Amino acid sequence: MCGIVGYIGLPEKTSQHSALDVLLEGLRRLEYRGYDSAGVATVAAGTVSTRKKSGKLANLLAEIDAAPMEAASVGIGHTRWATHGAPTDQNAHPHLADGGKLAVIHNGIIENFAQLKAKLVAAGEEFSSQTDTEVAAKLIGQYFTGSAAGDLTEAMRLASSELEGAFTLLAVHADQPDRVVASRRNSPLVVGLGEGENFLGSDVSGFIDFTREAVELEQDQVVTITTEDVAIINFDGTEAEGKRFSVNWDAAAAEKGGFGTFMEKEIHDQPKAVEDTLLGRTDASGRLVLDELRIDPEELKSISKIIVLACGTSAYAGMVAKYAIEHWVRVPVEVELSHEFRYRDPIIDDSTLIVSLSQSGETMDTLMAVRYAKEQGARTLAICNTNGSTIPRESDAVLYTHAGPEIAVASTKAFLAQITASYLLGLYMAQLRGKLFQGEIEDILADLHKIPGKIQEVLDGGDQIRELAREMAQEPSVLFLGRHVGYPVAMEGALKLKEIAYIHAEGFAAGELKHGPIALIDQGQPVFVVVPSPHGRDSLHAKVVSNIQEVRARGARTITVAEAGDADVVDYSETVFYVPETQPLLMPLLTTVPLQIFACALAAEKGYDVDQPRNLAKSVTVE
Ligand code: G6P
Repeated sequence: MCGIVGYIGLPEKTSQHSALDVLLEGLRRLEYRGYDSAGVATVAAGTVSTRKKSGKLANLLAEIDAAPMEAASVGIGHTRWATHGAPTDQNAHPHLADGGKLAVIHNGIIENFAQLKAKLVAAGEEFSSQTDTEVAAKLIGQYFTGSAAGDLTEAMRLASSELEGAFTLLAVHADQPDRVVASRRNSPLVVGLGEGENFLGSDVSGFIDFTREAVELEQDQVVTITTEDVAIINFDGTEAEGKRFSVNWDAAAAEKGGFGTFMEKEIHDQPKAVEDTLLGRTDASGRLVLDELRIDPEELKSISKIIVLACGTSAYAGMVAKYAIEHWVRVPVEVELSHEFRYRDPIIDDSTLIVSLSQSGETMDTLMAVRYAKEQGARTLAICNTNGSTIPRESDAVLYTHAGPEIAVASTKAFLAQITASYLLGLYMAQLRGKLFQGEIEDILADLHKIPGKIQEVLDGGDQIRELAREMAQEPSVLFLGRHVGYPVAMEGALKLKEIAYIHAEGFAAGELKHGPIALIDQGQPVFVVVPSPHGRDSLHAKVVSNIQEVRARGARTITVAEAGDADVVDYSETVFYVPETQPLLMPLLTTVPLQIFACALAAEKGYDVDQPRNLAKSVTVE
């Protein structure tokens, strides 16, 4: 939610990297985080200049073209997902204080902004927006001209200590043009390290074009970047060290690679996302070794319950994880939406393992739920796609997915990578606890390694799905049914359509059909059915085939996603998408793919912005 970027370089280098170019490139890459409005501020010749505009980044670019900015080597940039105040030009960031000499951008929500604003108004400050950010700007300005006496770092520290809620703040001041100062609490911020230049970003994609060397920050810290230095202090004023890391993907990985949209590209990245997530997880004897897991194996053996926490698409990956882990490890697994978990007094103790699933590693509800579980004594393990992000950093252990950067707001490759990592976790725990024979684990792993090639087969047959999507573009409602691991897949298929095609879509457990949803079936109602493998439990397959007949008898247009060779569905389906055969529990890695292609093609057919759907943001860093 909101993308932020900061830059400082040597003035003589401005011809190489002008601050404006760096900021705009960073914003282009971070736009997936929010795209209600965008703005920049630079400092040159003792003056702060700003440009800001509602709407997408393109509007800001047009504004800058119309009113060019002076060359500068220091600045900050912002792309917004509105929380306080509508997405207008006025509410766009940066916000100014100290007579226009201080510019501030912000990601997050300042919860005590109303009280602070009242105090600031009483002190004579005037506000020109409805944002909580302007309150932070004025507060920093007050300290800068007051007790912090011209020291932007100190002013930021003092102001940040007064703020409640979630924030990453970046500030530049005309009187201290040699620095960009930032602070963070509960919102993301990473530092990028250059030579004679340094960077700040909501995540590394904000500066990936310029450096792959980065520094993680902890909670409640202020960082000051100059051309030569990165200085970190805690909110209490003590000095701190950041943890360095190198980004293991490059700028090209975050480009569209010849596809029309990031979502299409990311759907096609999936064979590699699964393959990379499986890479290097076994030793020479074929036993699973999950090196990044920093939880003592003995502790994992004594776990009596697993609770999976996640939001959105990641929560559906969690539901798939439940089926697999319970089956293989014989430990009860609960799956809960992070925002519900925290407020229902869950039963947790030190034998509970919390597994959080998050592509971004920054989803605020998931972060808060993990913190809560930790306080209650649980062990916490993050399955995450973003190095250096907050949730893995605050968890006892991490299992990284290696899907590469996911830019499209609607998650695709991260979902398959999360499911893959969950399987690895399940198999690892089964190995530790002796719940599966080594040969069984090796067989499942061997089948997992065949999945990338099978996803590729589904992708190669994509035209059939795209054709159907084009034909169905005007449908007002689409239903999805699934059973067992097909149930979360059905919900994910429906979510994709809601997110990017703005079509009313629902995913149901096929068994629930007769308890309500069947009343929705009318002549011509499209129903996708995710059919379990005929090689799984016999009764499951047969029951779903009966469900298809039931909806068809009531006029539904049935579209089935079934395993290759499943002849039973043919007579009852208007369209069948076949996916290659695999173990029943691994099916979601294949059956999800046609549903993603369908949603993506249908949204494109309707002319919608597939990568940046209305009202959404990729990383939801507010509760
Ligand atoms: C947002 C995104 C979804 C994503 C969810 C959870 O709602 O639009 O695509 O599934 O957040 O995000 P996470 O980064 O925690 O997986």
